[in-house]
Amino acid sequence: MKVTKYYCVLASLEHGNGAKTGSDAARGRLARIDTPTYTSNVCQITSRGLLNKDIHIKMSEKVTVAIFGLGRIGQIHLWNLLSNNQIRLKWIVEANTEHATFLLEERRVSRDIKVCGLSDLQTVLDDNSVQAVLICTPTDTHASLTIRALEAGKNVFCEKPLSEDTEEIRKCYDVAEQHGKVLMCAFNRHFDPAIRDIYQRVQKGELGKLHVIKCTFRDRPLWLGAHGLSQTFLVHDIDLSCWFAQGLPETVVCQASSNIKEVGEKNDVDTVAVILRFPSGTLAIIDFCRYSSYGYDVRWRYVYGEKGVLMADIPQTSTVKALTREGRREAPFCETFSDRFEEAYRAELDHFIKAMQGHPMEVKRIYSERVGIVTDAINESYRTGQVVYLNREK
Ligand SMILES: NC(=O)c1ccc[n+]([C@@H]2O[C@H](COP(=O)([O-])OP(=O)(O)OC[C@H]3O[C@@H](n4cnc5c(N)ncnc54)[C@H](O)[C@@H]3O)[C@@H](O)[C@H]2O)c1
Repeated sequence: MKVTKYYCVLASLEHGNGAKTGSDAARGRLARIDTPTYTSNVCQITSRGLLNKDIHIKMSEKVTVAIFGLGRIGQIHLWNLLSNNQIRLKWIVEANTEHATFLLEERRVSRDIKVCGLSDLQTVLDDNSVQAVLICTPTDTHASLTIRALEAGKNVFCEKPLSEDTEEIRKCYDVAEQHGKVLMCAFNRHFDPAIRDIYQRVQKGELGKLHVIKCTFRDRPLWLGAHGLSQTFLVHDIDLSCWFAQGLPETVVCQASSNIKEVGEKNDVDTVAVILRFPSGTLAIIDFCRYSSYGYDVRWRYVYGEKGVLMADIPQTSTVKALTREGRREAPFCETFSDRFEEAYRAELDHFIKAMQGHPMEVKRIYSERVGIVTDAINESYRTGQVVYLNREK
C-alpha cells in the first residue's frame, strides 16, 4: 500500500491568500500593511521586496472583463456579468463564435461586446483594459488558460476544477502569487445560502463536536464528459467536507459501480460512495450518482454533532403544496445546476470582484490542493480496494 504524506506541507498553507504574518510574507504571500495612499491596504511582499503596490481595483471603478467559453456554465456567468453593474464585459472568446453571436443577438445584448475565436485569444490577453478573465471552457484547458491570463496580468476566475492534476493546481497558484493577481476557483457551493448557514452554525459551535457529514449529489442531466471519479464531479463534496472539518482527511475509502447503461458502455462508474475520516474523528460520507430521474439533487442532508443535527433538504421550485383527494402534491425539484445554484453563482461573482478590490479571498489555494490530493486518494482506493492513508504510516 502506498503511504502518502502531505499533511505538514499543507498545514503551513492553511491561511492561503490574504495571510497576515511575517512568515507568510517571507513565503511570498499577500500581507497587510498600513498605508492610506494605496487603493487597498493589501500589497504583495516577496523575497524580492514589495511588489504591485497598486494591484487592487478601486471600489468605484467598473471592472473590465473577458469571458472564455459560453457553454452550459459560461452562459450562466454571461447573464450574471451583464446584470452586474460593477462589471463591463468587453470580450467573449468562444470556440464556436457563431453560437456566441447568436446568443447575444437572441438576448439583444449590446454590440459593444466583441466576440472572437481561439485564434484571437492573444489579442484579448494583450488588451490592457481587461482586468479580469472568467474561464468557463472544458476542464483540460483550465490550467493553461489560467496561467496565460495571469502572466498577461489578468485576475482570474476559473471554473472548477482548476485542473485534474494536483501539481498543475499548485503551478496556477504559484503564478498568481508571483504576479500578485487574484485567482479564484469557482467553488460556488460555498456561496449557497443553506450550505453557508450550516457551515457558520457549525463553526459557532451549535452542534458541539462534529460527528458526521452526509452529503448527497445526484446529477442531472446525464453528462458523459468526464470520468466518474474525476474532480469534475467530486470536487464540491470533497471541498465542502474538508472545509467543514477544517483540514485534510487522514483516511479515504471509495467504492463505486456502474448502474447506468451509457456509463457502463464506456467502462466507467456512475454510482460512488466515499468515506473520509478526519483527524478530529469526523466522518464525511459522500454519496454521488451521475443521474437522478427525479431532479437535480444536491443536499447537505445531515450534519450531525454531539448536540444535534442540521439538515438542508432538497430545494423545490415552489414552496406551495396542493392537498387533493389524491393526497399531498408538491412542486417539482430543480431541473439542473443552473436553477439550483442561481443565487450562489451571483454571489461568487460578487466575491471575486470584492477580492480584486482588496477584500480577503474566501476560496483559498488550499481548498483546490486538498481536492486534488483527496481525489487522487479516492482513485487509488477504488483501484486497489484499500483504505488510503494520507498523513501517517499505516
Ligand atoms: N460550478 C458549476 O456548477 C459548474 C457547472 C457546470 C460546469 N462547470 C465546469 O465548467 C467547465 C465547462 O463546463 P460546461 O458544462 O459549461 O462545458 P460545455 O462543453 O458546455 O462548454 C464549454 C464551452 O467552451 C468552448 N471552448 C472550448 N475550448 C475553448 C477555448 N480554448 N477557448 C474558448 N472557448 C472554448 C466550447 O465551444 C463550449 O461552448 C467545466 O470545467 C466544468 O467542470 C461548473
